[in-house]
Amino acid sequence: MRTYNYEKSQGWFKRAAEVLPCGIPGHMSPVVNIPVSDYPLFTERAQGSKFWDVDGNEFIDYMCAYGPMILGYGHPAVDKAALDQYKVANCTTGPTTLMVELAEYLVETVPIARWAFFAKNGGDITTYSTMIARKATGRRKIVAIKGGYHGVAPWMQSPGHPGTVGEDHTNVIRIGWNDFDAFERVVAENDGDVAGFIATPYHVPVFQDNALPENGYWEKVERLCKKKGIVLIVDDIRHGFRLNLGGSNEYFGFKPDLICFCKALANGYTISALVGTGELKNEAAKVFYTGSYWYQAAPMAAALACLKELNRINAPKIMLAQGEKLLTGLTASAKSHGFDLKVTGSPSMPYLRITNDESQMLHQEWCGECTKRGAFFASHHNWFMSTAHSDNDIEKTLEIADEAFGVLKRRHG
Ligand SMILES: Cc1ncc(COP(=O)(O)O)c(C=O)c1O
Repeated sequence: MRTYNYEKSQGWFKRAAEVLPCGIPGHMSPVVNIPVSDYPLFTERAQGSKFWDVDGNEFIDYMCAYGPMILGYGHPAVDKAALDQYKVANCTTGPTTLMVELAEYLVETVPIARWAFFAKNGGDITTYSTMIARKATGRRKIVAIKGGYHGVAPWMQSPGHPGTVGEDHTNVIRIGWNDFDAFERVVAENDGDVAGFIATPYHVPVFQDNALPENGYWEKVERLCKKKGIVLIVDDIRHGFRLNLGGSNEYFGFKPDLICFCKALANGYTISALVGTGELKNEAAKVFYTGSYWYQAAPMAAALACLKELNRINAPKIMLAQGEKLLTGLTASAKSHGFDLKVTGSPSMPYLRITNDESQMLHQEWCGECTKRGAFFASHHNWFMSTAHSDNDIEKTLEIADEAFGVLKRRHG
């Protein structure tokens, strides 16, 4: 199998480094995907489950733009809805009625939702959810999970993160995932001062195995929140629509007060949403919160088309099944070469790690070898399945992965 050459990507990166801090910021920064020489840096086009880099290399994409792509790049129904709306009205002085229709659709689809609010990024919405929790309760503290990520705002960074000050974290208390006793303790220690509890439906730290909720965890959290008047917030920005279209809480069987959606809501168009219970509607109305582009109608049209399509095809079922096929094949291939590939998380959003080497360098090497043969795998982060990942894609990916395991075996014995 031919391995890829990234000459043009690297040339562009030299130019980028002159005028952009880091060259490429964020999750495709060259300090993230290691070894950097195995990864493309700039994309030219994308279609379905694939993208092509500036050197013309083709990749089956298992990162899906880190979550937004769920129906395949360039999905015809979603793109048509957005493009038609762009021609009529997009960023206007007042909102279009699409805002109402989209809120109605979310209220119909998400069992806990009685209202919806729209912004752009996930972080807009997680921050808004904590403000509503504080307004509704008149309390200060937000309990979050160690290693949990809710966006780039200073309140949710780790203490010491460059650009933050100690005070940013004063009212955020971090506890371990699945540690209900710690939650109970923190609530007792801060009696009458805990406004909200925020967590993802299951734990997705980077460079670590992902962890599902233990039996009864969410039920106990929900019960304590109800008893103590704490607002229960699910950050479904990453998981949303890949487990259950009514919110990932439905998959795990509990009812939060607020759910944050973003990534897969519009198959890549810029929109995020907060939905909430009837009790919090008036409180949300009292927290003024807005942004320059938040009335944009085209992303709302895209979101409506995307949600309808996800519902029509029962998208989570497809992604869970395709993920299962991929993971069964990958773990068998690893085993046949003498490696142990551990899978955690859910099949539609799995985290993988070769356990034979605790430093994870072997795992990084394998992900790099796969990527430079056309299966784009990140080594530090959960992957994402989409409904566009076909049996052919999975078959080709398994061939690539098998060859990459062979390379590792020859190199390391
Ligand atoms: C669980 C979770 N919450 C919040 C965010 C922040 O979303 P955004 O980057 O759109 O602000 C992310 C982004 O990766 C996320 O994965």
